[in-house]
Amino acid sequence: ASLLVLHGPNLNLLGTREPGVYGAVTLEQINQRLRELASLRGHHLLTLQSNAEHELIERIHAARDEAIDFIIINPAAFTHTSVAIRDALLAVSIPFIEVHLSNVHKREPFRHHSYFSDVAEGVICGLGAKGYELALDAALHRIEHP
Ligand code: DQA
Repeated sequence: ASLLVLHGPNLNLLGTREPGVYGAVTLEQINQRLRELASLRGHHLLTLQSNAEHELIERIHAARDEAIDFIIINPAAFTHTSVAIRDALLAVSIPFIEVHLSNVHKREPFRHHSYFSDVAEGVICGLGAKGYELALDAALHRIEHP
């Protein structure tokens, strides 16, 4: 199967960005690990980070044409603002898991609402980079045991 991992704004700075909140691991290390785990189980995993809402939306549209089976997305700050990315995911009707490195629920109140959670297959937050691996494992379980 094919999976797409999407990372929203400022996640390109992982490793140096507020390490106390987001950890020391870089985005490339996260992506590398996910690609390895997927390929060990015989699947193909693509990644994109963008600081631009329209690029994430266009990547989601393209995912339908590419027959992507599952999306893992950390929408970052767009979590709390983007009806447009939510609508894109609904439009292509590709199942997705929402991931956050930090526990958004113990942070500022404006981070408590997500435009994604009520339409996601599942949500993982507060477990750092490990959260992406858990999301991948859950996605592959769904794919392998439909
Ligand atoms: C985040 C949480 C968001 O509130 C924040 O805007 C981010 C990262 C996380 O992974 O913890 O950029 O999605």
